Amino acid sequence: MTPTQAPFPATRFRRLRRTPALRGLAQETHLSVKDLIWPIFVTDVPGADAPVASMPGVARVTVEGAVRAAEEAARLGIPAICLFPYTDAALRTEACEEAWSPENITNRTIRAIKAAVPDVAVMTDIALDPYNANGHDGLVRDGIILNDETVEALVRMALAQAEAGADILGPSDMMDGRIGALRTALEGAGHSDVAILSYAAKYASAFYGPFRDAVGAGGRLVGDKKTYQMNPANSDEAIRLVARDLSEGADMVMVKPGMPYLDICRRVKDAFGAPTYAYQVSGEYAMLMGAIERGWLKEEVILESLMAFRRAGCDGVLTYFAPRVAKMLG
Ligand code: PBG
Repeated sequence: MTPTQAPFPATRFRRLRRTPALRGLAQETHLSVKDLIWPIFVTDVPGADAPVASMPGVARVTVEGAVRAAEEAARLGIPAICLFPYTDAALRTEACEEAWSPENITNRTIRAIKAAVPDVAVMTDIALDPYNANGHDGLVRDGIILNDETVEALVRMALAQAEAGADILGPSDMMDGRIGALRTALEGAGHSDVAILSYAAKYASAFYGPFRDAVGAGGRLVGDKKTYQMNPANSDEAIRLVARDLSEGADMVMVKPGMPYLDICRRVKDAFGAPTYAYQVSGEYAMLMGAIERGWLKEEVILESLMAFRRAGCDGVLTYFAPRVAKMLG
């Protein structure tokens, strides 16, 4: 009991839970379609525009399919789409050159969406894994993930995406120094208005498995990502990473995965008050969908899971549920 609170029966919390109207008035946190970023998978590999088995309800789409998704986002009021590419096996090399080709699948999709539906913000992913022969986010030499060489590659990748018209760049690679390098390069190239949503606190997580199926990087991955993604046991380190990325020029920061890391979301929001996002990742989606499909959980669990991010201080959430939630909130 807080000092100002009268004892029972003066205080009966159930009074404000009695009707929907009263519950609505007493509601502290709200979830809106405006809080959602919708991640989609794009490909031009023949036959690959197909359902992703480990993500029920999610399918890779062609460039035209991505434009249709953006149109759906506009109709539903979803403010942003985030693109992840599934590239041809022949384009996955040790040097990852395809990552900064102006004609790669991501850049062609950015241009197509911005031409057709300019009001929907397009976010991208900056990391080499969809283009890398060995599935890593960075360049690899003698089994080591190279930091500084990778940052140079990421800068090229980012400039190509900015040139194609991306609104928000999402560096998900976890190399050190990349935010500063990207910001400097963007300013230098006349792209000072392009925003950076840094995957600042990104953990080395088993919850990314279905995503790696979706972009075709899982089977290729040599080893794991623990030398660059965070140890799930660490919390203070997340604060230091967010401080670093904000000081280097990030506009928004992300915590990833989401639901198992709500404590980190809250700490980050309280410490910085910066625009803070969570990624409800593929494994979280798969868990919820698996249970919903079997009838073990009701669909409303989706809204509860997303409200939890808002309550934990997040301004928005990247979620594969975005279009479904938009309709549920309808
Ligand atoms: C890779 C990247 C990953 C995700 C987004 N960008 C996977 C990884 O780090 O291995 C995961 C998203 C998800 O699981 O939904 N740079």
